[in-house]
Amino acid sequence: MENLISLINKLQRACTALGDHGEESALPTLWDSLPAIAVVGGQSSGKSSVLESVVGKDFLPRGSGIVTRRPLVLQLHRIDGDREYAEFMHLPRKRFTDFAAVRKEIADETDRETGRSKQISPVPIHLSIYSPYVVNLTLVDLPGLTKVAVEGQPESIVQDIENMVRSYIEKPNSIILAVSPANQDLATSDAIKISREVDPKGERTFGVLTKIDLMDKGTDAVDILEGRSYRLQQPWVGVVNRSQQDINKNVDMIAARKREREYFSTTPEYKHLASRMGSEYLAKMLSKHLEQVIKSRIPGIQSLITKTIAELETELNRLGKPIANDAGGKLYTIMEICRMFDSIYKEHLDGVRPGGEKV
Ligand code: GDP
Ligand code: NA
Ligand code: MG
Repeated sequence: MENLISLINKLQRACTALGDHGEESALPTLWDSLPAIAVVGGQSSGKSSVLESVVGKDFLPRGSGIVTRRPLVLQLHRIDGDREYAEFMHLPRKRFTDFAAVRKEIADETDRETGRSKQISPVPIHLSIYSPYVVNLTLVDLPGLTKVAVEGQPESIVQDIENMVRSYIEKPNSIILAVSPANQDLATSDAIKISREVDPKGERTFGVLTKIDLMDKGTDAVDILEGRSYRLQQPWVGVVNRSQQDINKNVDMIAARKREREYFSTTPEYKHLASRMGSEYLAKMLSKHLEQVIKSRIPGIQSLITKTIAELETELNRLGKPIANDAGGKLYTIMEICRMFDSIYKEHLDGVRPGGEKV
């Protein structure tokens, strides 16, 4: 199954790299049918912090105010060995081993598109992280939902952000990570509001509760975490990310995760939930869920792939061989990936019947 997720990752990247070339083919449909996890919520609810904890690395710009101003499509690839590195699609030949430099490049690349303003842009940044410590996942970090424009922002920004977020989560294949801070009333959560709109039954929404450590004394989040406040088909997960003070003091990820584990296992209210809380648990649960989703979608993806292979063959024949130009090379790569998918799919045929149900 690990193979299948990483193939989906490759397909997603290949489809994106091909860009506008795929307009009239099955490729855009194929891209839309590949599942990814979108992180949504209000500004400063802790979205980027959750993503970092799930990845287990410090690499995202975070902080108060509007920091994330372009979508970040993040692909995690589990690899053997002990090397860890990152690559941006806009810098194909550069390998980053210093994750502070990754953070700087995200900030710089954001500014390149939007200027050093508080403007936003729907043009995504594509980042891949290769590491033996990650689970295979595709995640999208999005600008936070807001209620009012601030100095330097156009009035339309509130609606623009909402439309951008909605475009990612309305696809029926997307999985929604709805981030709400525990120190605000859940009834006012932007994440819940928008996810309820596109997924009213809560079938593909995962509720994540951040800032549990910042709740008023004498209150706790047990009703939310046990699903009594707002019911979702998927379980709620509580997390404790680093505070702004921790960030300023450079508290590292390992220390932060350890403290998070201790927080849940030693706080009397949450002790009984401890094994289902925290960022590490969230990462594993998401990867498992993504696997299941992919498995159930295999027949649909498979028929699109068959169609794509046929179209690519026609296109390659038209371009003529040997393939000298760039487009031909990329088409060829996608076809190779499709063929790999095809053969892996066949290996799984014993386990899955067309229609998706397990035999
Ligand atoms: P985003 O705007 O939703 O991406 O939020 P960020 O991840 O940038 O976080 C906003 C601020 O909240 C940062 O200063 C974080 O340090 C802080 N923060 C996020 N999650 C938590 C948490 O669980 N506990 C505490 N104490 N602070 C948090
Ligand atoms: Na923020
Ligand atoms: Mg952010």
